Amino acid sequence: MSNFGFKDTLKSSVDIVRTIGDYIRLQKIGGSARYRGLCPFHREKTPSFYVHADRQFYKCFGCGKGGDVFSFVMEIEGMGFYEALKLLAEKNGIEMPKQREDFDPESRKKASIQDLHEVAAKHFRDNLYASAGEPGRGYLNKRGIGQKLAEEFGLGFSDPSGGLTRLFEKQGVPGELMEQSGLCLKRNDGPGYFDRFRNRLMFPIWNESGKVIAFGGRTLGDDQPKYLNSPETPIYRKSHVLYNLHHAREGARKSGRMILVEGYMDVIGVHSAGVREVVASCGTSLTNLQVRSMKRHADRVIINFDPDNAGANAAERSIQILLEESLQIRVCSLPGGLDPDEYVKAHGAEAYLAELNRSPGYFHWLADRARSRFDMREAEGRMEAFRFLLPAIQKLPDKLERLAVVGDMAVHLRVEPGVVLDQFRKAAGDRNAAKAVQIAPQRHLPDLEKVLIRLLLHHPEALAGYCDTLLSMEGFPNLESHHILETALNMLAADGAVDFAVLQSKLSEADANLLAALFSTDTEDVEKMHGDPAAQLRACLEKLSYDQRERHRKDLRMQVREAEQRGDMPEAMRLMELERNLERAQKH
Ligand code: UTP
Ligand code: MN
Repeated sequence: MSNFGFKDTLKSSVDIVRTIGDYIRLQKIGGSARYRGLCPFHREKTPSFYVHADRQFYKCFGCGKGGDVFSFVMEIEGMGFYEALKLLAEKNGIEMPKQREDFDPESRKKASIQDLHEVAAKHFRDNLYASAGEPGRGYLNKRGIGQKLAEEFGLGFSDPSGGLTRLFEKQGVPGELMEQSGLCLKRNDGPGYFDRFRNRLMFPIWNESGKVIAFGGRTLGDDQPKYLNSPETPIYRKSHVLYNLHHAREGARKSGRMILVEGYMDVIGVHSAGVREVVASCGTSLTNLQVRSMKRHADRVIINFDPDNAGANAAERSIQILLEESLQIRVCSLPGGLDPDEYVKAHGAEAYLAELNRSPGYFHWLADRARSRFDMREAEGRMEAFRFLLPAIQKLPDKLERLAVVGDMAVHLRVEPGVVLDQFRKAAGDRNAAKAVQIAPQRHLPDLEKVLIRLLLHHPEALAGYCDTLLSMEGFPNLESHHILETALNMLAADGAVDFAVLQSKLSEADANLLAALFSTDTEDVEKMHGDPAAQLRACLEKLSYDQRERHRKDLRMQVREAEQRGDMPEAMRLMELERNLERAQKH
């Protein structure tokens, strides 16, 4: 069987709803075979992401992403086609064809690098339990990590002599690939390669489906860095990955929350307390993409960072990002200056759970930080405290909520609400926030414009060559949605794509509403979008130039009448000739 025959076979035995449902929370729509959820590929508050069980595809009306179960897994995991096939085959107990030759080179490379990580993870684990692994086992002992926990987290040990590179060489792995995997480094002083990780306790880092894609390695002693991490590689994008998400997602679905901690050890400690829904961003500050992957599984987050200054600063930054993605946030500060791992060891699971459950909302936590920082007895100090809190308030996506929080703040900090509001408006530069929120009057777009906007979002490639043509068409400024189109076309010309969320953010409120309304419509559009984009674009361009000529013709007819009324017959004749020419052109 060819690999592509294999693809179809596999597709028919994979349940797209279950596969996608592992990554996002889907809801069945009535008695249909359709499911709906928040789109994982762009930021949104109301679901516009649909999965069709019988037709085996998904489609988002917000950002336009769509495809089959393979493209979904590729997109969300950052995998190549081969890896996605392999993953789904494994999950469904179907054997993969061995040859990879039919696949594109990038996809093959990613799959090979993933294989190397599989080999490395096993190698490190084997090391840990071999006689040379004694230092690693001793360290685990000291940290109170038993064998069961070590196995659950796939912990291993990298030997000081660099055995991984030798193992790869024995298996005939090309040097270039070893280097690209981030597991080996090229020698400066001669030919050959050597192990990146030596004499460290190894923590595998998984993608969301539980494949090892990178490592963190902790020194057993005091040398620097304390943790050495894999570099970015074709299969490891740091800003996308959350440590332990594959373990955490099930618990997060059940409890509706996610615990965010700073490090590998904290994750293991919290997990050992029976709290499975715990993740960490491995050694980088939290990103929007990471937050979105939390939000696919839960709406609430408890930040539980180290109770030192660095931890508090990191918590402040994380709050901003979490707010941008509309998560509900609480902040747990453990007493006694202990990090989560230390606290669980010192006081046990029950005490830890109690601390988690009494964590205050982020706002109280921030206000406490502000109070300890500024002199709250002075009006000026209270004002400063307010200014300190402003950025968090400004990140609230919802205008009404922003205003409500500003009100709360004023009371909380004992500042004049009027003064606070004034400051808020000034600092925000957010003229709209000052007004009451207005419901935009209903505007309707002609079909032509709807099609153009949809094409821009869903098939930018079809429009890429036509940005200037469209922008310079005479009738363009007359279009109802010309601001939307102009903004989107300029984005397309500059970036090669149009991101729905970014586009929204660049528009006036009225246009943003118009655009949102266009995408809250339902099913027929799925069918419509199956037309050939190039043909749709041609039809639009024809219609536009038709409209343009039509307008000219009306203009001319008016001028003819005026000339006749003036008695300027030669001019009237000349204009009529022009009009006839236009009519002739119109017929072709
Ligand atoms: P910590 O220094 O708080 O480590 O860094 P920890 O998790 O408490 O680890 P132990 O208990 O000392 O073993 C928190 C996280 O920051 C990243 C790691 O992901 C670590 O788990 N980090 C830290 C690095 O990436 N590199 C470093 O050198 C230090
Ligand atoms: Mn620690």
